[in-house]
Amino acid sequence: MATTLDCLMDYLFPVPFLTISIFYFALAFLKHPLLPLTNFESFKEKAFAGLWLQFGAAFAEQTPPQISTLLAQSKGVILDVGPGSGEQLHRFSQPQNITAIYGVEPGVTLHDKLRESAGEVGLGDKYHVISATADLDSILPGLVKAGLLKSNEVSAPEDLQLFDEIVCIRVLCGVPDLRSSVADLYGLLKPGGRFVVCEHVMNSKSTAANLVQRFWMLVGWKRLMGGCELTRDTLQAMLEVANEKDGGFAKVEIKQVDEHSMITHIVGVLTKK
Ligand SMILES: C[S@@+](CC[C@H](N)C(=O)[O-])C[C@H]1O[C@@H](n2cnc3c(N)ncnc32)[C@H](O)[C@@H]1O
Repeated sequence: MATTLDCLMDYLFPVPFLTISIFYFALAFLKHPLLPLTNFESFKEKAFAGLWLQFGAAFAEQTPPQISTLLAQSKGVILDVGPGSGEQLHRFSQPQNITAIYGVEPGVTLHDKLRESAGEVGLGDKYHVISATADLDSILPGLVKAGLLKSNEVSAPEDLQLFDEIVCIRVLCGVPDLRSSVADLYGLLKPGGRFVVCEHVMNSKSTAANLVQRFWMLVGWKRLMGGCELTRDTLQAMLEVANEKDGGFAKVEIKQVDEHSMITHIVGVLTKK
């Protein structure tokens, strides 16, 4: 049971967090003063990467622990969406069961550290870094380049069913079009495959936390946090996509954790029919 003090600290956690983010924007500006004018996306990417390379490991430690149990069961060919610098890779604790992992990470500044992290946890040979976003148009060329697909197999891409498992940890909060990305990823999952999620979501169980989420969104959370939204109903989007395509998932095993928090998570597995 969270105390009033726990809730207060939770609601105020964006104060230091956003301050740090502003600091990394300023640092990126000092290092690349012309970049905001010539390529604002690249500027934002560098600012976020600076922050993540420094604090990503600490944030990964705050991930709901249930995700470790789920990733210990991972096997086959896996799509790891938005792995950042690879701070969660140690949770794939049975690498011998994994055939290959394709890590789709648009932040190119993080790629070296991501490869290094994969090597440290025994996934070096199996982990393929793909520079792409969680959209089919972006992922497919990367998969061709990595050798998982041939370019002539890309002609009817909506339902390629390539992966035994798709893993999303704190990434669907920041994709520009949630439903479209979820639909694209769903089509890449094999029948019977596992969609493993650990995502912070809109808190519909605590009115206070929900109001606080809305407040921080108004203050500029999304702008300063690389497009991340605090008020997404990610599970609903996933259920709707599966419903439209296959009449639903075969199995939905999802829990909401930290229900008092403005960073409440859904954690679990949705199994495709
Ligand atoms: C909050 S970080 C989480 C990183 C990692 N999953 C973890 O938990 O340590 C979000 C990651 O998603 C990536 N990302 C942002 N937009 C994305 C998109 N449209 N498609 C895929 N990844 C994206 C970011 O570059 C970043 O590495």
